[in-house]
Amino acid sequence: MPSLLKIFLRSGPCWDSPAFLRFYLAALRNPPARLLLLALRVKFSPQVLENIRRSGLPAEEKGRLFSGAMNLFRAGGAYKTTAPFRSPLTDSAMLGKVPPGGLLAETGASDGSSSLGLLEAARGAEVMLTDLQASFPYRDTALGRVFYNTDGRYTALKTLCLYLCSGGASSPAAADGEISLLNPLVEEKFPAARLLPLDIFSGELERKADALKCANVLNLEYFTAGEIKRALQNLRRSLKEGGWLFICHNNARYKDGEAWVALQRSGEKMRLKEEANGHELLPLLRSTDFSDLTG
Ligand SMILES: C[S@@+](CC[C@H](N)C(=O)[O-])C[C@H]1O[C@@H](n2cnc3c(N)ncnc32)[C@H](O)[C@@H]1O
Repeated sequence: MPSLLKIFLRSGPCWDSPAFLRFYLAALRNPPARLLLLALRVKFSPQVLENIRRSGLPAEEKGRLFSGAMNLFRAGGAYKTTAPFRSPLTDSAMLGKVPPGGLLAETGASDGSSSLGLLEAARGAEVMLTDLQASFPYRDTALGRVFYNTDGRYTALKTLCLYLCSGGASSPAAADGEISLLNPLVEEKFPAARLLPLDIFSGELERKADALKCANVLNLEYFTAGEIKRALQNLRRSLKEGGWLFICHNNARYKDGEAWVALQRSGEKMRLKEEANGHELLPLLRSTDFSDLTG
């Protein structure tokens, strides 16, 4: 049963207009204004994403605002924080591993904007975008629109200018619709791009990929060592024999703000083959706890 405090903290006044979102995102960069907004507990519902998509704003501005809004949402224990062209070092290393016409899939892609670099440079390879949460299903009720988080973590009601987040989970029996989380800039530049649901712990791609990218997801901040091992064991199933899994982390503490490790599937193993800039997972991947998988 969600506590009243949780409900209180997750709920608040809500104006889902792109203009207000622009003001809010700018105010977050100003410490006193940020404090005030957090104290007022100003919220945005998933409706703001659809309002941005339908607005007459230029595509680049829609894309920027959409990613800005995504940074305010969470999926499970992970933030949906993202940015366009976020991991260029990983993208170019990955593209070197994929043959023409091959399949490259990004997991935990958030709104897909971080995959713009891969999509632009793919040169004949197919790029598939996936995330635990690809959309927000909703139901329209007499009280307002009820949103469901697809990982089953919460249900929330947007009514007039209020966002009431229950903190408890329930699945819609039949949704009236869903709000796609694919960034409108990606939709505009790559009309064939789709964002598909895939849980890195249990999901499997319909076709095995030549390379998988998992950027800013498998971090010790979000997941335990045991969970990371479980994700690797599961993601292996979506790779062709000899296929590659790139795990990347963007953080100011790394040279050029980015580090990656590349593991190659070899039968039941995921062998640690290449790395750049000392990713935080390296000691773990080289430890005895992982040697049955990565050794
Ligand atoms: C910090 S964002 C990173 C987004 C993007 N990869 C980037 O680098 O900008 C983390 C993403 O991981 C996704 N995520 C969290 N748990 C997941 C899971 N179990 N399976 C797949 N994706 C997951 C979240 O939905 C979120 O979009």
